Amino acid sequence: MNKRLSAKSVEHLHERLGNRSIVIIGLMGAGKTTVGRRLAERLGLRFVDADAEIEKAAGRSIAEIFAEYGEPYFRDGERKVIARLLGAGPQVLATGGGAYMNEATRKAIEEYGIAVWLKASLPLLMKRVRRRSHRPLLRAEDPEAVMRELMDKRYPVYCGADISIESRDIPHNIIVNDVLRALMRYVCDESSVSETESEA
Ligand code: S3P
Repeated sequence: MNKRLSAKSVEHLHERLGNRSIVIIGLMGAGKTTVGRRLAERLGLRFVDADAEIEKAAGRSIAEIFAEYGEPYFRDGERKVIARLLGAGPQVLATGGGAYMNEATRKAIEEYGIAVWLKASLPLLMKRVRRRSHRPLLRAEDPEAVMRELMDKRYPVYCGADISIESRDIPHNIIVNDVLRALMRYVCDESSVSETESEA
């Protein structure tokens, strides 16, 4: 289905969102940047890519940061940059695959955002990441084994996201529509919960 959200629905979503960010999480290759960018366009919101902001702040590519300073340094910068970005909502914020694994980042997202997990299967992730080789974690002898390990470790944490959407091998716009519908449902549920609370 490729039905557009009505202007009224978009307005409602904006109202419910307030200053919160829609934060896209998921593994490398899940489509976070592409889906996030299109989602932002559809909602008339700013799109920000956390990895690009980290690169801008460091004046280096992520591969260079990993190579020169190591992963812990990158993670620390990632946490700080995301904390800063979360103060500038509303927006759509795409995060790097490891960001949500940090407890402080998860808490900040819980407070200032709505987390949307783009969940994808191993074959789909591998198909997507094979096209590009800029990701330091996948510069390994067996990138598929690395990805499998990351899925095992991260999916149980990613599943704490507010919304989960299956990222399939179909045009990204269909996934964007899925996200929009799920967001509408999510904010409606939130408002009915707060109404019940205020009635009680
Ligand atoms: C990483 C994912 C990358 C990038 C870095 C580490 C990870 O972002 O942040 O290479 O730990 O999964 P993408 O998920 O956008 O590729």
